[in-house]
Amino acid sequence: MAKPCLIYYSLFFSCILYGFLFLCQAAPESALVTQIPGFNGSFPSKHYAGYVSIDEVHRKNLYYYFVVSEGNPAKDPVVLWLNGGPGCSSFDGFVYEHGAFNFEAAQTKGGLPKLHLNPYSWSKVSNILYLDSPVGVGFSYSKNKSDYSIGDIKTASDSHAFLLKWFQLYPEFLSNPFYIAGESYAGVYVPTLAYEVVKGIDVGDKPILNFKGYLVGNGVTDEEFDGNALVPFAHGMGLISDNLYEEVTAACKGNYYNPLSAPCERQLAKVDKDVQDLNIYDILEPCYHEKDPKKVLDINIRLPSTFRKLGETDRPLAVRKRMFGRAWPLRAPVRDGIVPTWPQLLNIESVPCTDDEVATSWLNDASVRKAIHAEEASVVGSWELCTDKIIYDHDAGSMIKYHKNLTSRGFRALIFSGDHDMCVPYTGSQAWTRSIGYKIVDEWRPWFSNEQVAGFLQGYENNLTFLTIKGAGHTVPEYKPQEALDFYSRFLAGNPI
Ligand SMILES: *[C@@H]1O[C@H](CO)[C@@H](O)[C@H](O)[C@H]1NC(C)=O
Ligand SMILES: *[C@@H]1O[C@H](CO)[C@@H](O)[C@H](O)[C@H]1NC(C)=O
Ligand SMILES: *[C@@H]1O[C@H](CO)[C@@H](O)[C@H](O)[C@H]1NC(C)=O
Ligand SMILES: *[C@@H]1O[C@H](CO)[C@@H](O)[C@H](O)[C@H]1NC(C)=O
Repeated sequence: MAKPCLIYYSLFFSCILYGFLFLCQAAPESALVTQIPGFNGSFPSKHYAGYVSIDEVHRKNLYYYFVVSEGNPAKDPVVLWLNGGPGCSSFDGFVYEHGAFNFEAAQTKGGLPKLHLNPYSWSKVSNILYLDSPVGVGFSYSKNKSDYSIGDIKTASDSHAFLLKWFQLYPEFLSNPFYIAGESYAGVYVPTLAYEVVKGIDVGDKPILNFKGYLVGNGVTDEEFDGNALVPFAHGMGLISDNLYEEVTAACKGNYYNPLSAPCERQLAKVDKDVQDLNIYDILEPCYHEKDPKKVLDINIRLPSTFRKLGETDRPLAVRKRMFGRAWPLRAPVRDGIVPTWPQLLNIESVPCTDDEVATSWLNDASVRKAIHAEEASVVGSWELCTDKIIYDHDAGSMIKYHKNLTSRGFRALIFSGDHDMCVPYTGSQAWTRSIGYKIVDEWRPWFSNEQVAGFLQGYENNLTFLTIKGAGHTVPEYKPQEALDFYSRFLAGNPI
């Protein structure tokens, strides 16, 4: 009997907290996902999905998919998950990383993938909320297309508005500890949103979010630290010679992110030449090649004229070469101003080296969209892993000031890195976390999963932890699902990793 009472108590408590008089709402039944094409069994926990409108006039609607914890839903944290890009759908995380299902590619062309339960789903230990953000990404949309020009600051305030409304719909989760997590460009979304949430708590926004901390994986953070990360990474991983490393170091004097001399640029070009054919997301993995070359489109036509030039990089690589080589140009850290999305940057529709066929076929199937309460293609268009629909301005600058502010105020932070990612290499994250200058409270040591060394960590005061995952690429839970669930569970539980 203890369990139902507890759930009832926490429901009751959250209603009081929220301040509704007698209207104690529970999660909306209309959002319940009752079956999913491709999955045959029964759901181990409840799933909900739908839209939250954050601007009635523009009809601006953000899409979410919410998986209730398979552990103790009333006590386990609520975690908001965000993929990056900018422009990538958080279904990337759901389908390929830590979602409730594993997807088995269809045997027949055009058939739906078969779904099995994912033994390493992050819903084992948390209530997890996947949000397509900013508007224009994944299934999120607005009827006023001017909303698709957006930047960091507006994205954070939109996501905050979403959270306040979402928790009104799901008040029974208000008292759970709340965390924000994401990877890649979400290295910007997560701290800026966390800061917005904390500001909201300070000024008394209702409902009051029980925010505790955040997690960032291979996250974009700072132009200088991220831009200087590749050369030491390439040397440490054995991708460039000792000679070249010495020459590039001497010529650039440690400044690789903003080369100031012709000799430095010449040496950097040699570094690029050595590493350019690797899979940028995991240097150990082969590059996935799109079977159908028709996906190479002249999407410039769809871009506004001021934006067209951005697709033209100063690198003289042919499109095919770029497509089969890498996505984000090497050493091109995210700078202030317009950030080209991958499709815009590379003039192709799909993300290079990345196989998104399963997600693309599944999420564009009409019966799947109906089951998960996503609008039809006639309303929001087809689902793309990463879209070129948005024009995105990186207007929040370096993230280091946000991390300093949040951690010094007692919010817990886990900064994790797959150590074989060359897109946002661990060398940058290791350097910026150290640069904050906090005292080391848990000195560099291995951490373990399944009785094996799974990576290394360094703990700093103010609950800031830097952690590597040995052998993982850019999207850690995709490469190392068991290890990822281990560090995630330990961090959320407040246990040593
Ligand atoms: C669905 O379940 C039935 C009965 O449990 C089983 O016979 C069938 O093979 C399953 N189908 C798929 C697609 O897994
Ligand atoms: C879209 O929104 C902008 C900014 O609020 C407004 O100026 C414009 O008139 C709107 N367009 C339409 C078609 O409603
Ligand atoms: C964090 O930011 C808030 C809002 O700008 C500010 O009031 C506060 O002093 C900052 N705290 C720290 C410790 O930097
Ligand atoms: C670190 O986190 C723990 C667990 O949430 C908390 O008890 C402690 O006060 C935090 N320490 C600091 C310095 O914020």
